[in-house]
Amino acid sequence: MLRSKLLITTITFLGLLNLSQSALAQKLDRINPGEVWPDDRGAHIQAHGGGITKVKDTYYWYGEERRQDLDSNRRYVSCYASKDLTNWKFKGDVVAFTDPENLGPRWILERPKVFFSKKTGKYVMYFHLDNSTYKYARVGIAISDKPDGKFSYLKSFRPLGHESRDIGQFIDDDGAPYLIFEDRPLGFHIVKLTADCLDIEKEVSLIREHMEGGAIVHYKGLYYAIGSALTGWRPNPNRYATARSLEGPWSEFQDLAPKETNTYGSQSTLLLKVAGRRDTTILFLGDIWKPKTQWDSRYLWMPVEIGSGKLWLPQPGPFKINVREGTTIKINN
Ligand code: DGJ
Repeated sequence: MLRSKLLITTITFLGLLNLSQSALAQKLDRINPGEVWPDDRGAHIQAHGGGITKVKDTYYWYGEERRQDLDSNRRYVSCYASKDLTNWKFKGDVVAFTDPENLGPRWILERPKVFFSKKTGKYVMYFHLDNSTYKYARVGIAISDKPDGKFSYLKSFRPLGHESRDIGQFIDDDGAPYLIFEDRPLGFHIVKLTADCLDIEKEVSLIREHMEGGAIVHYKGLYYAIGSALTGWRPNPNRYATARSLEGPWSEFQDLAPKETNTYGSQSTLLLKVAGRRDTTILFLGDIWKPKTQWDSRYLWMPVEIGSGKLWLPQPGPFKINVREGTTIKINN
């Protein structure tokens, strides 16, 4: 009697366990801008100020890991993998550095971006490296043999001798890698990286605008550059400019969303081009920062309306993306 009761309890428990695990691993069918975004473990994705690197048909999303139980002496970069841009598998923290340049207790590692060098076969991560007062203003570089392997710290420097805080990445259609960086004295730099991605080859453009969260996309013969104003963690109206060539001349910057929404409470981090069999979608990737509870910061991903020199971020809402087709569908509920 007792044994059969125990057996029933065990079976019920295992059943419940199974149920909760499958609920955790449930496949998502949509992207919900601004909502908690569960990874394959059911935990909110921690990839803030992030970048995306595509390797064959897999997207790797890197970002600032800001979960609550971290060692306060270390700075972490997480890595997630996905084939559909909707369901993300946590691949671990590929960076967990202790203060590599003796910058002091509240040192900063932000906005990681990973480039793949065809020349060396290495993955090269750039990030904003700083001290607590944001005066060090350099890029840091770390390197790995695998997209989701541990990255080893290599060096830090000021690109072409300039102050560098927020960074962005851009890969042109010919595969050439570019870094975008914000330089307080001068403005918004676009520089080409060397083939090994370990250094800057040359300056391509200097836009004399003070813009953070820089990102670029090439779409139907035009380059679109976006960025935010410098308002710390508070959102502001992000803006865009266009040019026929990365060298410019660049148009005036203009709003990419209704000004009063402050980019719907977000700040740009990347423009992702999803070129499929039927169409090409450009996604705006932004962060909705929660400075006091950074682990709960959200993501605003949304397909933009783009073409003929116009770029517009529509009112965010849930959507489905089909990576293979390059299409998205808005969900009206
Ligand atoms: C705005 C930047 O875009 C963020 O990455 C971060 O550096 C905050 N400023 C800090 O205030």
